[in-house]
Amino acid sequence: MHCVKQITSDMYWVGGSDRRLALFENVYPIPAGVSYNAYLVLDEQTVLFDTVDRAVSEVFFENIAHVLGGRKLDYVVVNHMEPDHAATLQELTLRYPDVQIVTSAKALQMIRNYFTFDTAGIRTVKEGDTLCTGRHTYAFVMAPMVHWPEVMVSYDTTDKILYSADAFGTFGALNGNIFADEVNFETEYLAEARRYYTNIVGKYGTQVQALLKKAAAIDIQMIAPLHGPVWRKHIDWFVEKYQKWSTYTPEDDGVMIAYASVYGHTENLANIIASKLADAGVRNVKMYDVSVTHPSYIISEAFRVSHIVFASTTYNAGIFVNMENALHDIVAHNLQKRTIAVVENGSWAATSGGLMRELLGKLKNCTILEEGVSIKSALKPEQMDDVDALVNAIVSTLPKPEVIEHKPSEVVEPNAMFKLSYGLFILTARDGKKDNGCIINTAQQVTSQPNRISICVNKNNFTHDMILKTGEFNVNILSQDATFDIFKWYGFQSGRDTEKIQGEKLPRARNGIVYIEGCTNAFIAGKVVESHDYGTHTLFVADVIEARVFNNVPSVTYAYYFANIKPKPAAPAQKKVGWVCKICGYVYEGEDLPADFICPLCKHPASDFEKLK
Ligand code: FEO
Repeated sequence: MHCVKQITSDMYWVGGSDRRLALFENVYPIPAGVSYNAYLVLDEQTVLFDTVDRAVSEVFFENIAHVLGGRKLDYVVVNHMEPDHAATLQELTLRYPDVQIVTSAKALQMIRNYFTFDTAGIRTVKEGDTLCTGRHTYAFVMAPMVHWPEVMVSYDTTDKILYSADAFGTFGALNGNIFADEVNFETEYLAEARRYYTNIVGKYGTQVQALLKKAAAIDIQMIAPLHGPVWRKHIDWFVEKYQKWSTYTPEDDGVMIAYASVYGHTENLANIIASKLADAGVRNVKMYDVSVTHPSYIISEAFRVSHIVFASTTYNAGIFVNMENALHDIVAHNLQKRTIAVVENGSWAATSGGLMRELLGKLKNCTILEEGVSIKSALKPEQMDDVDALVNAIVSTLPKPEVIEHKPSEVVEPNAMFKLSYGLFILTARDGKKDNGCIINTAQQVTSQPNRISICVNKNNFTHDMILKTGEFNVNILSQDATFDIFKWYGFQSGRDTEKIQGEKLPRARNGIVYIEGCTNAFIAGKVVESHDYGTHTLFVADVIEARVFNNVPSVTYAYYFANIKPKPAAPAQKKVGWVCKICGYVYEGEDLPADFICPLCKHPASDFEKLK
């Protein structure tokens, strides 16, 4: 059965996704799969842009037949001859014998190398040649070595679409959505896009730069690559990534520590270096054991960060084999512009450090730090000066971390901010010796530097008045193990006439306000910097002065609360006439609900009631 996505009024994605393949090009793990894209345009003459890998040939040919709907296929443009795209070209010519292949001269040679069909009718094009199919005119732009020498890209001068071949592609199958703006590309695809780029064409930065310069001269409204989602929005954002990757400019100021360890002592040294870097304020440190991490991930991270530490034990009088492989790969991929430190271990004759320096010396425009650490079997206390010198050398070449104005004793765990959702929270405050808390549903991060959150609190809540007076509060992020009793306790009674928070030894944040454990996954302490009166509510904007994560239980979202925590109203024994509060389930009996009615339990207004059915 066909599986087609319409992209424009007359252009269709007719490719397929493969989630079975373990190794792309028999080298690169693709745990999230890969898509093989092909595009079919129904103009006065029909034109197909590239074919697909054999793995998805069945759906591909069904897609083409479906979109053509009985029309003939006039052209297939072969932008790239690598078999992950061109493996089905011969079969296409068998199914559509009248189709004319349009491709570069180099690709024609490759077609003759790979296939046996008659190539006499193939039309070769060169830079600037065009093909008019009716409404559309396509211009061909040569892009050698992005990723093979025969590569070209095709530009639809009518709809401003760039059929970009491998460029702007990514590992990762398509999951229903075809456009990059329909998914969270940064979290779902970016790491794989980087791994794809750096490993597939990372070596050819100059050639990618040449293509980017040509692309900058044309108006591109859409990029249709051969792998991954299609770009129609935020194209500049992705082009900027390509600018950095192809000029070997680090994306992030940070440190990758890649280590090879046999019995854990080199790993221990790597951990100590990471810990000291963190103590020195470096927030972006990533560690990889090269024996359990595929080199493609090491290469990708090496392209991302500005600083790298390679730590290897000596093995067979050389570099430990997995580290040696990774380093050879990095050299082959032409990494540049990095600051690199080398650490070695050798129980009787440490040679790995010198050999790593020799290999890394082939990298252009890199600084190999003189500071290094050489240990015999295990790090000794007297070598801590060497470790400190190495850490200082790295820190001194990193931009200074931004200082956030907090007292030294205060602790803000950044992950606490990730627990925020459109969810439900217990807001706690303290005025003198009086503690109180209430339920709110509006807490969000406003800025990260300075780290600020906002909360919006109903003026009917006693906690509201306490915050207005003291300027301090804690947001306790409710987790999915919270029961309805928690909501009743904090939400359906007032602190003006109830001691909601009782006990002798209550856990308190540094601001002295109670934080709630057992039904929450984190708390965030805020110090108010601004407040705005919005009639029924006050919006408080506050500096985050402390934040801690308790556990990984998911936060309660509003939807989760209604689906799983809030009891479903029991069917009345006999039908009542009245109104039910959608928030807490309180039932008001009577035909008419007064317009100014306030729920006696949760204090929500008449607009939150619905008539009993
Ligand atoms: Fe996706 Fe170079 O092939």
